[in-house]
Formats: sequence, C-alpha cells, structure tokens
Amino acid sequence: MPSKVVVFGGAGQLGRELVREFQGRGHAVAGLDRTQVDITKAERVEAALASNNPSVVLNAAAYNQVDVAEREPQDAYLVNALAVRNIAVACRQLDARLVHFSTDYVFDGRSRRPYVEEDPTHPLGAYAVSKLAGELYAQAYLDRPLVIRTSGVFGPGGRFTGRGNFIELMLRLASQHSPIRVVEDHIASPTYAPYLAARTADLVERGVTGVFHIGGGTPMSWFEYARMIFRVAGVEASLTPTNEREYRTAARRPKYSALSNAKMESLGLQAMPALEDAVREYFAARNPA
Ligand SMILES: NC(=O)c1ccc[n+]([C@@H]2O[C@H](COP(=O)([O-])OP(=O)(O)OC[C@H]3O[C@@H](n4cnc5c(N)ncnc54)[C@H](OP(=O)(O)O)[C@@H]3O)[C@@H](O)[C@H]2O)c1
Repeated sequence: MPSKVVVFGGAGQLGRELVREFQGRGHAVAGLDRTQVDITKAERVEAALASNNPSVVLNAAAYNQVDVAEREPQDAYLVNALAVRNIAVACRQLDARLVHFSTDYVFDGRSRRPYVEEDPTHPLGAYAVSKLAGELYAQAYLDRPLVIRTSGVFGPGGRFTGRGNFIELMLRLASQHSPIRVVEDHIASPTYAPYLAARTADLVERGVTGVFHIGGGTPMSWFEYARMIFRVAGVEASLTPTNEREYRTAARRPKYSALSNAKMESLGLQAMPALEDAVREYFAARNPA
C-alpha cells in the first residue's frame, strides 16, 4: 500500500536516491534538505513531521567528516546522535516508522570476515561514536526502528554535495595530475546509493524492523577500488599504494569494515551486483551518452 514518506537529508547522495526510489514505487514522498529542516532543531523536525504526517520517516542526514569530527566532536554528535533523538521523539508522537542509516565504522575492524549484525560494536573515533549513539537513540525511543548500516556510499548526487565521494575525489586528484596515494591495508564494501535505496524500499515494504547491513557486497581495499575506478573511467593517474602507518589521519578507522548482506538476502532480497558493475553504472549516470 502506498505510504506517506518523509526523507531527511534529501539532498545527500543517499537521500536523493531514496526520494527517487520511493516516488518510483508510488509512495508520496517529501524530501527535505538541510535548508528546509535542520534536524538538530527539535522544533523544526517536529513541525515538519506534524505537517506531513508520514507513516515512514527515512533519516539520511548525517555529519560524515570523519577526520574533522576529531576537532569538532560536538558538531558530529549534534547531527548524528542528538538529532536522531529529535526525529525518534517526533516519530513516536505520530506513530511513524523510523528508518535510520548508520555505518560500518561502528566496528573496530579486527574481524577477518564481513561483519554480521550480531557482532559487537566498538567504535574508534568521534564520528563512529556519534553514529553508534544515533542507533541507540533510535532504539531507545522507538520499539521497532529499522537501522541500516552501510559502507563507503557513492551515488551520482556526490557530484553536487559538499562532501562528494571517493570516486569524485579520485577524479579530481587525477585531473590535477597530483600523485595519488591510497591505503591498501584498509578494506571496506563500497556501496552504490541507488542499490542501497532499492534494498531499503524492499525492507520498508515488507515491514521489516531491527538492524540490517546493506553494504556493496564486494570487500575491497581502497587502493584496489581506486585502481578499478581509473580503469573503468579510462583515466591515467599516478596511483601508488600506501598503508595506515605511512598515511596518518586524524581519526582512527577500522582496518576491515566489509559488511555481510546475509541477513538481508535471507529475506529474499536481491544480492548486490558486483562492485565493478556498480562503478560502471555510476559513470553511466554521471556522464549520460
Ligand atoms: N558517505 C559514506 O561513505 C558513508 C559511509 C557509511 C555510512 N554512511 C551513512 O549513510 C548515510 C547517507 O550518507 P550520504 O553518503 O548520503 O551522505 P551525504 O551525501 O554527505 O549527505 C548527507 C546529507 O545530510 C545533510 N545534513 C548534514 N547536517 C544536517 C542537518 N543538521 N540537518 C539536515 N541535514 C543535514 C547534508 O547537508 P549539507 O551538504 O548541507 O551538509 C547532506 O545533504 C548517512 O547516515 C551516513 O552516515 C555514509
């Protein structure tokens, strides 16, 4: 049955795909960007939900600057944790279902196999702590939220967002003829935003709640991923591998954060296509013929 859906963070990479996907399935969707509703303002969140009266609320808004968060942990916490509380409280008043997006960075990276939903969390920095706190706020105020953890999101919207994505960063560095060093000892499962939006809609339409992992399905080091991006794009780049010891960042990151999609697949949802196919689709959407 068609639902009334509100998407917070509607201008982000994932937010805009959620708006497109849910609209495409016949739901009535209000995509709200930061200029329309700053989710850190409880009264703005409450007013937006009261006026739209949705049955489903999707929160794709986030503070995603992992290294900057080490300098400004309060800002990350406001958006990723306390604002989720604002949304959860407002959802509770309306009896709306909340779908909240979280991250592979809730894990510490000591695993040697893709993380499953039951694995213990152990965040390594301010961004990761704030995202885990967001999950807890959703679960504290609501009986049955749907929390979806994902990894390395990239979507065509990343061309237009302040933060962009890894593909756009690689293309920008290559166009500047900069030497590019990328870590080969950190592995994630980069996730194409349109596929993530489609799997999210599948879960919502089935009425599923709880914690779910939806990663790209192809665990890969960031160096291998960069190499694949340049191969698919047909771009020459001066790319060399580095590692965590040589390439220090302000935030600690999990060395291994690939996510297992087994729980999602056990419900009959379609497996994620191979990462290379997703990157090809990204370029097709980015540079239409
Ligand atoms: N991107 C990744 O690599 C990655 C990895 C793992 C998990 N995730 C999670 O996946 C979800 C979607 O990420 P994404 O890649 O779509 O991020 P994104 O492209 O950076 O979009 C996030 C959106 O949230 C907005 N926003 C920030 N603060 C806000 C506020 N106070 N009120 C309202 N909106 C606000 C941003 O607006 P401005 O542009 O104006 O700041 C932006 O439009 C997030 O929960 C994220 O934590 C992402």
